[in-house]
Amino acid sequence: MKLQLTINATQHEVDCAPSETLLSVVRRLGFYGVKFGDEHGLSGSDTVLLDGKPVNAGSMLAAQAEGHNIVTIEGLGEHPDQGWKKTDGLHPIQQAFVEAGAIQCGYCTPAQILAAKALLEKNPNPNEEDVRDAIAGVLCRCTGYVKPVQAVLKAAAVMRGEDRQGDKYTSTQGDDSLFSPPTFLPPDSSSGDMLTMTRVMPKMVVTPQTETYQTVGKPEKKVDAVKLVQGKPAFTADIDIRGMLYARVLRSPHAHARIKKIDASKAKELKGVAAVLTWQDIPRVVYSTAGQSDPIPGPLDAFSLDNKVRFVGDRVAMVAAESPEIAEKALTLIEVEYEVLPAILDSRDAMKPDAVRIHDEPEFVNFADSNPEKNLAAHIRIDIGDVEKGFAEADEIFEAEYEVPKVQQAHIEPHVAVTYWDEDDRLVIRTSTQVPFHVRRMLAPVLRLPVKRIRVIKPRIGGGFGGKQEVLMEDVPAHLTIATKRPVIYEYTREEEFIGARSRHPMKIKMKTGVKRDGTITANSMYALSDTGAYGCHALTVTGNTGHKAMALYVGDGKYRKSPNIRFYADVVYTNTPPSGAFRGYGVPQGYWPLDRHIEKIARAMGFDPIDFRLKNAIRPGEYHPFSTAWNEGREPRPEIVHTVGLEQCVAQGRAAIGWDDKYGNEGWHNGTLSTQHVSPQHESSSVFRRGIGVAMVMQGTAIPYLDMGGASIKMNDDGSFNLLVGATDLGTGSDTVIAQMAAEVLGVPLEDVITYSSDTDFTPFDKGAYASSTTYISGTAAVNAAKICAERIKVRAAMMLNREAGIQVNKETRRQVYSAEEIRLGNRTAMAPDGKSVPFTEIALDSLHKNDQEQIMGVASYVSPVSPPPFAAQFAEVTVDTETGMVTVDKLIMAVDSGVIVNPLTASGQIEGGMTQALGYAVCEEMRYDAKGQAIERDLDRYHIFRADEMPELETIFVETFEPSHPFGVKAVAEIPMDGVAPAVGNAILDAIGVNVDEIPVTPERLWRAIKNK
Ligand code: FES
Repeated sequence: MKLQLTINATQHEVDCAPSETLLSVVRRLGFYGVKFGDEHGLSGSDTVLLDGKPVNAGSMLAAQAEGHNIVTIEGLGEHPDQGWKKTDGLHPIQQAFVEAGAIQCGYCTPAQILAAKALLEKNPNPNEEDVRDAIAGVLCRCTGYVKPVQAVLKAAAVMRGEDRQGDKYTSTQGDDSLFSPPTFLPPDSSSGDMLTMTRVMPKMVVTPQTETYQTVGKPEKKVDAVKLVQGKPAFTADIDIRGMLYARVLRSPHAHARIKKIDASKAKELKGVAAVLTWQDIPRVVYSTAGQSDPIPGPLDAFSLDNKVRFVGDRVAMVAAESPEIAEKALTLIEVEYEVLPAILDSRDAMKPDAVRIHDEPEFVNFADSNPEKNLAAHIRIDIGDVEKGFAEADEIFEAEYEVPKVQQAHIEPHVAVTYWDEDDRLVIRTSTQVPFHVRRMLAPVLRLPVKRIRVIKPRIGGGFGGKQEVLMEDVPAHLTIATKRPVIYEYTREEEFIGARSRHPMKIKMKTGVKRDGTITANSMYALSDTGAYGCHALTVTGNTGHKAMALYVGDGKYRKSPNIRFYADVVYTNTPPSGAFRGYGVPQGYWPLDRHIEKIARAMGFDPIDFRLKNAIRPGEYHPFSTAWNEGREPRPEIVHTVGLEQCVAQGRAAIGWDDKYGNEGWHNGTLSTQHVSPQHESSSVFRRGIGVAMVMQGTAIPYLDMGGASIKMNDDGSFNLLVGATDLGTGSDTVIAQMAAEVLGVPLEDVITYSSDTDFTPFDKGAYASSTTYISGTAAVNAAKICAERIKVRAAMMLNREAGIQVNKETRRQVYSAEEIRLGNRTAMAPDGKSVPFTEIALDSLHKNDQEQIMGVASYVSPVSPPPFAAQFAEVTVDTETGMVTVDKLIMAVDSGVIVNPLTASGQIEGGMTQALGYAVCEEMRYDAKGQAIERDLDRYHIFRADEMPELETIFVETFEPSHPFGVKAVAEIPMDGVAPAVGNAILDAIGVNVDEIPVTPERLWRAIKNK
């Protein structure tokens, strides 16, 4: 049928099927700012305005939009400078999103902006609640909504013609005040008629070293923000290639079955089907899908397609067709005869002697202690010191069991990849991945192509959170492109994200801790039964981290500091459930729920202050990381001293910010009869509601020592600007920005002069990818090293030019010269000599490229770290518990973090806010469950609930900087640590409120209600 659609005030005539959605049509017309997030409009990323009102384009037919005015993000503002043609610039909402740091991955950003536009047209003077309501239909998995909400308030103020000042860079600086409790500043009144105050900056306790920096430590705007607020076609699926086919995968209805017979003949005959592939059609190559460095530290146990299925949702066949609808139809025509096998759905059954064997394929390759005969993907035994002796020395022993769930990364952009042969018969894989170089290396044998004939392009990523540290699905379109010679796009549905992607390893954990009467921990032991699901991707390393990074925090006091007694044992078992994998935090959130809850219980049982008890036993600067002496992911351990620990200072800042001393142990505050400035007014003075306050302390790691490698190259252009090429992948974290900030600092130029590109395996240097909290630290150091090489050449060239200008020829033997490179300093796009003479970069660039002794000023460098300096944090939570229903409302989360020097407070605080929000879901509502046949109960964003803008507690981030000596700018990691402390802090706050322990998360109302009843 033919339709006339008015999009952004322009008429478009389109030919479409009656069943085609508006989302499909507008994207076909090139309006790529409208995004696919799910089939039901629940993510909201498909929002457009229809006659000024937000609607989900994926949930309505294109035909329904005829006769209406459709507005997409492309209809708002644009870059102000388009060469000779100037424009009106960005819309104030777009501008505010850029300035407020409201964009992380940017996948939800166009929809949020459109929802905000609709609000401001109706209500020019909204309050925060209005804004939260207005954008509640657009899910954001990255930001925690703090900065988007502030951006809308700011835009509203600008559109009302008010002063746009308002962001307060609250900092406490200098040695004297470095670690003293904060003084809360009153709202700034200097802006006079300012009606709306916005606050997007974290509180900063700044280390003195950052004082001298020009760019590092500053809240620079993200280098990719302007394109993302315009909805530019930056993401993997935002591409149209002539002749593109659409891929679909037939998935198993059984948890465990052998494929006895498979007949694809009817599907192949369907008009519009280009290829149907079953296990009989492609090479049988065993591999691991875990996106890790070589050799992969885990078993090889997966095939692109196999004659056995091991979970409901496992692959059975793949199809490429002219349209998604034909591909779907073809799936229904594939005839499969299964021999259904017994299934293991509970990890406790996996190692029983009579358990069915999930991996019986002869190609299985063991790693370390994996053993398919016992359904064991990994087996970990780490003993530090003498744990039994430590228990014998204790006055009291505490034992308890805990449980953590399987949860989904739920990035709003699904997994998506496009593959095609280029003109040189090289296979191009354009994919939303955190690990482009691993994709290339790992798929080469699977596709029977040499590495050199594969090019992986990583465009913008719409969130990953570890889910895209997996070579999960790129092989599907790649096989189909090989089969058909045509370009193929494969985009996961939201249901596939739940049944056919990866998730966090669920674990059942036992704790045993010995404590002396004075509060000294003498021995600490954890056993984890970890469920890797049907395949062992990341099985060893994720579960190893559960012990390695959580159990390392408490070493004990006194003599135990030098020789702590710590044990971590784990069995990682196969079950017939969807595979687990990497998820932000990488095993550590699983460790902190049992560890910190256990510590809280011990402190209360023995009558210690919970904060003092933790700090008494926590690791201190100058001590060995206990696990570095005993374990290294299956490699040789290398002992490592922890140099910077800002934990005590984090506690001081956090406890002051949340008002701990007013609230903890204060019955009047608990029951709401005593009002303080921190109390939620709706819950005051009620016999049903009880307030509670909780704390958790956590540490993470920064990169994997002696393994994680990042590379960078920088070259100078004719105008003195620089191209920075990194293999690192910015999945919304802001790494492109902070890496560029560090390079700009070394080069002495503003951030705008560094044009960052990441990443393409043909052009950018190798980088292991974005995981393990390593990008700023590892890839950032590589960029700094490359910038230093450039800077040295710039100085040499500047000295040559100044000497030439002074009429002096530098003689290599006599070294007769007036100006030497060693004395030259770089700054403000200029090379400066001590006598005040200077040469601008523009002249150095032209001279080096075009005039004298020509050369390309360029630096290439890489970096591997010998250490993994841990960041530390104190997480505080305040809750209100409905004692009748078990409903927990988390009112406030405050995290005080020592992540070393903060390169960009805006992007770093965005990481903390977003991480706390994901961790909050882990604490109270997110869980993937299966019925008795292994069928997933949660298959969409309705049953699987992630927090909306209108459901959020108050979030606050405090950075307590330390200067980590192993990094040129003193940084440590920030990305993963916010995942660790929220759940135990919330659990501890619930205990504080009502005296009830829940040992299993998420703490759903039902779970807590049962615990209250059983008390
Ligand atoms: S910035 Fe909102 S989903 Fe990533």
